[in-house]
Amino acid sequence: MPQAPTPALAAFLRRLPKAELHLHIEGSLEPEQLFALAHRNGVPLAHASVEALRAAYDFTDLQSFLDIYYAGASVLRTELDFEELAMAYFARAAADGIVRAELFFDPQTHTARGVPMGAVIGGLARACRRAAAEHGISADLILCFLRHLSEAEALQTLDEALPWRQHFIGVGLDSSERGHPPEKFARVFARAAELGLHRVAHAGEEGPPAYIESALDVLGAERIDHGVRCTDSPALVQRLAAQGTPLTVCPLSNVKLCVFPDLASHNLPALLASGLKVTLNSDDPAYFGGYLLDNWLACFEALPLTPADAVRLARHSLEASFAPVAQRAAWLAQLEQVAAQGV
Ligand code: ADE
Ligand code: ZN
Repeated sequence: MPQAPTPALAAFLRRLPKAELHLHIEGSLEPEQLFALAHRNGVPLAHASVEALRAAYDFTDLQSFLDIYYAGASVLRTELDFEELAMAYFARAAADGIVRAELFFDPQTHTARGVPMGAVIGGLARACRRAAAEHGISADLILCFLRHLSEAEALQTLDEALPWRQHFIGVGLDSSERGHPPEKFARVFARAAELGLHRVAHAGEEGPPAYIESALDVLGAERIDHGVRCTDSPALVQRLAAQGTPLTVCPLSNVKLCVFPDLASHNLPALLASGLKVTLNSDDPAYFGGYLLDNWLACFEALPLTPADAVRLARHSLEASFAPVAQRAAWLAQLEQVAAQGV
């Protein structure tokens, strides 16, 4: 019988210093904040109340979620909106024991509505600076391209963002996966590499192992976001393990979007057993039923995981982050101290 983690184990999981590497900041917009911003900005909503909106969070696949997620993001208008959104996330992240956060943001979702690029990046960048000062969290931004749009639009978005180049450390690829293979974005990722940006990509969430391979080979992705479908190809699993490519796995997201029927069926234990550099993440916590620690607790309840696995998962997250090496080393030393004290 699955058992909820004991209070001692839950406290141990919280104490472990961890990085969150797969978090869409627009996906941290809670219904209450969404309604408050809609009111402040005069944006009409399709749902009459917070409760009615929450009740609509019943997804059948990635696309059914994205439709609601993009509609929700329409309430974000001003630099202050973006700053407040990220500050709400950082408060929760601090409570979960997160020391490092690499936030995805989707500029095209906002610029298409006439929101200036400077308002999006300016507000988020200001929140990242405040996260360090107010919560002791090291935070950076990763600009994501929407893969259902064209590569020409992605190239234009990257160009438009260049005046704020110092405010983001990398690029990513998200939105509807099926039918939009990574190779569609070869040129924009090559341009990002020339600019010295880190590169990550969603692949193998709903899409096949071939998308993970082309994310690595064509885009030069340093991490794979999700990647859970790699287990459909034993050769790919071997390659990912040998290369030490990190996977940013999002268990509650995978269940909400029906990638797995329930958490007990999730392939996290198999991924770990294959020697993969798996990390745990929350993806879109306001929509999927929990923040990072909620993901950890749910996994430890539903799956056969040990405190040693927890230390390994936290270690992976710190190692896979794009923070400076000396900073990562300091967190890893802190992690070993917490691990040594035990549950
Ligand atoms: N955008 C926000 N969440 C996403 C996810 N889980 N997959 C693809 N695109 C996303
Ligand atoms: Zn995602």
